Amino acid sequence: MDYSAVILAAGKGVRMRSQMPKVVHPVAGQAMVLHVVEAVRRAGVPKITMVVGHGRDTIQDLFKAQEVQMAVQAEQLGTGHALMQARQDVTGDHNIIVLAGDIPLIQAATIKSLIDHHEASAAVATVLTARLEEPAGYGRIIRNADGTLNRIVEEKDASDKEKAIREINSGIYCFNTSAVFAALQQINTSNAQNEYYLTDVLKIFIDAGQKVEVQITDAYRDIYGINDRVQLAQAESILRQRKNIELMQSGVTIMDPGSTFIDTMVKIGNDTVILPFTLIEGNTVIGQACEIGPSTRISASSIGHNVHIESSRVNQAVIGDRCTIGPFAYLRPATVLHNDVKVGDFVEIKKSVIGENSKVPHLSYVGDATVGRKVNIGAGTITCNYDGRNKHETVLADGVFIGSNTNLVAPVKIGENSITGAGSTITRDVPPHTLAVERAEQKMLKHHKDNR
Ligand code: UD1
Ligand code: CA
Repeated sequence: MDYSAVILAAGKGVRMRSQMPKVVHPVAGQAMVLHVVEAVRRAGVPKITMVVGHGRDTIQDLFKAQEVQMAVQAEQLGTGHALMQARQDVTGDHNIIVLAGDIPLIQAATIKSLIDHHEASAAVATVLTARLEEPAGYGRIIRNADGTLNRIVEEKDASDKEKAIREINSGIYCFNTSAVFAALQQINTSNAQNEYYLTDVLKIFIDAGQKVEVQITDAYRDIYGINDRVQLAQAESILRQRKNIELMQSGVTIMDPGSTFIDTMVKIGNDTVILPFTLIEGNTVIGQACEIGPSTRISASSIGHNVHIESSRVNQAVIGDRCTIGPFAYLRPATVLHNDVKVGDFVEIKKSVIGENSKVPHLSYVGDATVGRKVNIGAGTITCNYDGRNKHETVLADGVFIGSNTNLVAPVKIGENSITGAGSTITRDVPPHTLAVERAEQKMLKHHKDNR
């Protein structure tokens, strides 16, 4: 059947105490509301309208490249009023799914099962509920003696007896589109919060003798709504746990899931081993049979197969197969390592391409450099790429050997198979097959002090 989704995301999220709208706070590396959008799409509902209000520019920016329609709710007068704002965008669809933007744990299967239930029962509305140990804060489900829905009462409007009810409204619904917009015409704000409650449409349906279904779900975590940063951290931990399980099931070894933090979007090949205290962030892709960690942070990078990275920071870098990195290396944006490169301890590389089989084994800074194949860069080598105003390039051709503690004052080029003597400060280009040495001759002066 014809479905579209409406995501309500106009609220401010006061309890976050944030300058940012609540739904753009990241959870496991991506905005809360993006998790919701992805779950809806995976449930087979590609058409999405988002009701935005507070911080709508920020939310719109987030979806710039995506097909999500925006409906504006200029003033936040309640969830019922929020849905009314989407009317123009969804009238063509027979049914709509309505859910909030602050439930990042929602999974496609839960949405799918609600749709299936709605279809099978031919109800005008189906509401998803759950039984919680701690129902505080949620609307409570009041059922009739025969089990059918009587109404939903908000916590703030509830009597003590109603507050004791543990079955809660998830805030996720399927509606017949024309029926819900007709019912929305009839709701009012006579309640504790002076808001238009979306939940009141259910009572209107019931009073009109229309069929309203309740689906109670066991997936109580899926409907967990985030209101403050304590709940944000709880959602974060659950999403990371799910990600770790998904990776382990696909053939990745994670030695200590408790100290491994992998964002939702990350992809990792099988037989890769992740050692403790490791963060893998953003759109990072890691190949097969790698060993990553311990104590490593990788962001938005692409890493080949059989790569070893230990105790290092890798940010926006591209790393070929069979490279070894660290311990204590720092790979900065626009670093490209071809296959079989070694980057050793205390090495920083920025915006540089390092050719196949080249080595930067210890204590070096390589910035704005193009390094060929089979180049060896001795310990303590520095590319002096910055003159205080501009950045300049260093080019090391294939087979170059840079002696320890060389300063390469850019712009400078070292030709094929050339060598620099240890301790040289190279300011002029070196032709191929040349040894360039720049240092004063060693003096020998006699002295008479006894140090023994
Ligand atoms: C709502 C339900 C409650 C349910 C709970 C589940 C109502 C009246 N109550 O309560 O029964 O248990 O969700 O989490 O619907 N929003 C707007 N515009 C508004 C108001 C809200 O877009 O004017 C959005 C919010 O940004 C949020 C969602 O709607 O994403 C839910 O709003 P919220 O105020 O959090 O509703 P609850 O009080 O939690
Ligand atoms: Ca809420």
